[in-house]
Amino acid sequence: EVLWVLMAMAGYLLGAIPFGIVVSKAMGLPDPRTVGSKNVGFTNVLRVSGKKAGILTLIGDMGKGWVMGFAATQMLQQEWMILLVALAPFLGHLFSPFLGFKGGKGVATALGSVLGVEPAIGFLLLMAWLGAVALWRYSSGGALTAFGLFPLIASVARPTVEFVLFSVIVSGLIMLKHKGNIERLLNGTESKIGQKQV
Ligand code: G3P
Repeated sequence: EVLWVLMAMAGYLLGAIPFGIVVSKAMGLPDPRTVGSKNVGFTNVLRVSGKKAGILTLIGDMGKGWVMGFAATQMLQQEWMILLVALAPFLGHLFSPFLGFKGGKGVATALGSVLGVEPAIGFLLLMAWLGAVALWRYSSGGALTAFGLFPLIASVARPTVEFVLFSVIVSGLIMLKHKGNIERLLNGTESKIGQKQV
């Protein structure tokens, strides 16, 4: 099976494209790595450059996850192959060869991948993120809530060993990437969504 390897490689490279930087450059806006939380993702682009750039970043970063997750379900049969291909853009986003193997926190890309593989679970995660953000106004709080629940949701809604493992890896990496956010949430200095800060 050479197909899944090729798809995983393509997914990794696609995932490695940081849409926050691409969109910001194209729109003549500051590089998100230099402002706000210095993160390349939707939340920081929204924070420092506004709605249009933020939403374009979200579409790009979610889209690259979705495309690979969906393509994997259409072209591959085995659960572990599907999930490795769905994982590839997330890993590319976190550890981008175009950014010296640094990258974003993976929330949008992971949501996209899960929506592509298993839309109902992706939708639940999206609702958990939106619900928590509506309640507390912290984007990071929404991500931690949604992905904190992911392994639990996975074990109930798609209890294959592969999918539960996928959920644990994705959630674990997202938690690790949010170390700074967790510290800021605990000491009350995390910025709320919709609150401008440069
Ligand atoms: O997806 C990242 C988000 O949860 C936090 O982003 O810029 O506040 O660190 P940021």
